[in-house]
Amino acid sequence: MNAPTQQTRSSPTYQGRPQRRSILRFRPIARTDSRAAASTRGIGSAADGAAAFGFTWAGGDRGIVAEPHHALLSIKLGAARILRGPHRRKYPCRLGAAMARSAGGRGPRTPYSDVASVYDRVYAWKDYGHEADRVRSLIRRYCARPPRTLLDVACGTGSHLVHLSRSFDSTGVDLSEEMLAVARKRLPQVRFHRAPMQEFRLGETFDALTCLFSAIGYVRSEAELRRTLRTFSRHLREGGVAIVEPWLTPGTFRSGEVRVSVQRSRAGPLVRMNSAEMRGGRSILTMHYLVGEGGVVRHWSEVHNMGLFSRATMEAAFRAAGLRARYLRRGLMPGRGLYVARKVAAESSTRPRRPRATRGR
Ligand SMILES: C[S@@+](CC[C@H](N)C(=O)[O-])C[C@H]1O[C@@H](n2cnc3c(N)ncnc32)[C@H](O)[C@@H]1O
Repeated sequence: MNAPTQQTRSSPTYQGRPQRRSILRFRPIARTDSRAAASTRGIGSAADGAAAFGFTWAGGDRGIVAEPHHALLSIKLGAARILRGPHRRKYPCRLGAAMARSAGGRGPRTPYSDVASVYDRVYAWKDYGHEADRVRSLIRRYCARPPRTLLDVACGTGSHLVHLSRSFDSTGVDLSEEMLAVARKRLPQVRFHRAPMQEFRLGETFDALTCLFSAIGYVRSEAELRRTLRTFSRHLREGGVAIVEPWLTPGTFRSGEVRVSVQRSRAGPLVRMNSAEMRGGRSILTMHYLVGEGGVVRHWSEVHNMGLFSRATMEAAFRAAGLRARYLRRGLMPGRGLYVARKVAAESSTRPRRPRATRGR
């Protein structure tokens, strides 16, 4: 999950689609101040679900903002996906949702829907190759037999799989269709499935399962954590190994911090600012992005609501799922640690412990 602030390079893409020029031209705009953006650019985006849109006719900017007619206009244009932007919430439209589904089978919006197109720019500082080397050697060390297959849960844009798929026959699972779209494009040889990590059934088992960059934090309660680890366990062969990089704990999460990250690259400047607070025992991160691309600035914010689990809670959940876990203080990123858990035979996970010798005789 999102953390340190560093300067990086990045590659120029806008949701992988070239900007087309045509008589009726659509352009991406800032999401939060659509009127201001519209008046400066006369814009809109049928492609990315932007908040509002206007028209740029060949020959002159008319700068029309069509917010109130958002749904109607979308239907006229046959571009159902635009209904998935913030105004989808303002002007709910069942037909829009149905059209959006049939238009491409894209899933619901998640906190990663907007960031997906720039995610790899945001985390270009992260050394995925080095992390994958460590994960690979842990898998080989802890797996009861030579590992051949791997499932990466909450795989995101597939940055670990880029490296791990060279050693293992790999599969990825993630909740965000937008993140998966990037991963699929990058790794055509890998199978990807869109599913919540809490509950999915692929109908097969793997030698190794990974859930990295603190994605496990997206499960919010202890009950959900247990369900998720049972799902992981169900997808492991006996003797197979799960590597889970935890999110922060109630003791290590720092409330009230604001962080900023500024990056410049040929694609344009990218600024992220986030606040962090603890509410109801959970960590709430609010991230604001400003992304300059193609002469315009996109702005959006996203809220990440993440569970905070102590080591004792994590270890108990692993045990209950039939996974014998070991916590490694030295993880992939500073301050997070890493769980390496082996799936034990069903009877040994439920076998009662040997009673302790009576003390104080
Ligand atoms: C911090 S990113 C990590 C992505 C990738 N593992 C990496 O290291 O770059 C967290 C990922 O978890 C995914 N995610 C969040 N909640 C999820 C859930 N309930 N089930 C599956 N994936 C989820 C997000 O879509 C996102 O891709």
